[in-house]
Amino acid sequence: MRFNLKVMVRSFGRAGALVGAVLATGCSSQRPAPDPVPYLDDASFRRSNLVASLVNPGNSYSTLRLAHYATGDSNDWDRLPEWNPAAEPIAATELDADGGAPPSALSDAAAPLMLPESVVSPDDPELVALGAQAFSRYPTQLAAYFVTALASRSAAASYGLWIDDVRGVGGLVRARMADGSVAVALTCSTCHAAPGAEGAIAPGLPNHNLNIGQAILDAPGSALDAATARAMVAWGPGRLDVTTTTGTEPARIPDLRPVQWLTFLQQDATLRVVDPTTLAIRIETLIITSNNDVVRPPRVVALGLAAYLASLAAALPSPTAAAAVSPQGAAVFAAQCTGCHAAPDLTGAPVPLSIIGTDPTLGLSAVRGTGTYRVPSLHGVGSRGPLLHDGTLPSVGAMFDSARTTPSFTGKLHGSGAVAGHTYGLDLPDGDRAALIEFLEAL
Ligand code: HEC
Ligand code: HEC
Repeated sequence: MRFNLKVMVRSFGRAGALVGAVLATGCSSQRPAPDPVPYLDDASFRRSNLVASLVNPGNSYSTLRLAHYATGDSNDWDRLPEWNPAAEPIAATELDADGGAPPSALSDAAAPLMLPESVVSPDDPELVALGAQAFSRYPTQLAAYFVTALASRSAAASYGLWIDDVRGVGGLVRARMADGSVAVALTCSTCHAAPGAEGAIAPGLPNHNLNIGQAILDAPGSALDAATARAMVAWGPGRLDVTTTTGTEPARIPDLRPVQWLTFLQQDATLRVVDPTTLAIRIETLIITSNNDVVRPPRVVALGLAAYLASLAAALPSPTAAAAVSPQGAAVFAAQCTGCHAAPDLTGAPVPLSIIGTDPTLGLSAVRGTGTYRVPSLHGVGSRGPLLHDGTLPSVGAMFDSARTTPSFTGKLHGSGAVAGHTYGLDLPDGDRAALIEFLEAL
């Protein structure tokens, strides 16, 4: 199942228009034309998509959504107020002012997202443009704990917030709250954007320097119990626990550039991608739960974000170009790896924890676990940063270092010693292994 929003939707859009035209010219059965964007206005469509996508309906990620998403009853999140507040990015130059960026003063330039009046087809270019805006403008979660980091450029950098003259400070925004006050919030780009090889901020690239755990611990008035504080210190940069309240199941921030190829979402394969709606629902419910279930995003914003994420793949290198860099590496890959990382999407069906053998904590989670790990798409893996669901390996070179599974290995991030599991390719002859690494680094 290929997740290609553009292609799917283009054919849907045309078919819809055609059927509409035929009906208009006098077909007596009066069947309504198919709704071109049912995600936006058909609750039963959204409900069935959600149900079909949940891999383990018994985990608490699933039960929460089953209880509240498009249910039609009094618990329905559809009844929450739609939230599109005035917001503005915090500018890099604000950090140079005495005392840093003011957390609570909104300038005249602050504005809500401009929403299209209507969306006639899911491949409407306005959707991608809206998604691009929302990615770095829409307040996904309040983050008062970042106020300390806004004191100066060096404070911001010490928590791994990126600083960019055009895009601002770590994707943080100030937003107008319902009571008129102003609060600092994260956007998708706080976690899911980072400086690329040329230094410019690359959307979709994981921010592997971001140390959210440390920022929360250092916030004035933070009152965490000792066990949670210890767990959060262990997150380190580039990881956070989006699962439990105890902080004990950190995951790395994933690379969103290859999202359009994924057949399962989240590293523990929580969601089966039924069609592009699955990603839109995942984003919509993420924003609801991140805002404590009191507001919901305009659905067109979630749809725009999904369309925008799908468009990010266009900037990744092609496997053909990578194969030209190392034909030998491409041949080794085809022989050893495509059983799971299947061409052309370089992903495949989730793998049981007992087979893959990497740290099972996240896969066994009562909150999101499915007993498997998702096979990451390897498109973009050469520039991805830390690897595996828990981000314990710094690079492709470390992943295929044959010393990695021994206790004397020194390359582990977030801990020390051996990194178990995913032993494929570790026993290759040196020449083949070097060629394989060269091929992967070019992807
Ligand atoms: C505070 C950091 C943070 C913010 C902000 C954030 N995410 Fe994420 N995101 C994560 C982490 C960590 C995961 C990994 C969860 C997992 O694999 O179980 C993730 C996973 C995802 C995934 C699944 C990717 C995959 O490989 O399966 C998508 C899609 C996604 N995020 C989109 C978004 C969008 C869109 C926004 C903004 C509305 C956003 N995220 C905001 C940290 C963040
Ligand atoms: C049995 C299925 C399977 C085979 C065979 C396999 N992989 Fe994987 N691969 C996975 C799974 C599952 C993960 C994710 C594991 C995790 O996150 O704990 C993964 C992760 C990776 C990653 C890390 C990507 C990331 O974003 O973290 C790389 C690189 C990789 N595989 C390359 C290869 C190469 C090269 C081969 C062949 C030598 C190979 N794999 C063979 C299933 C497989």
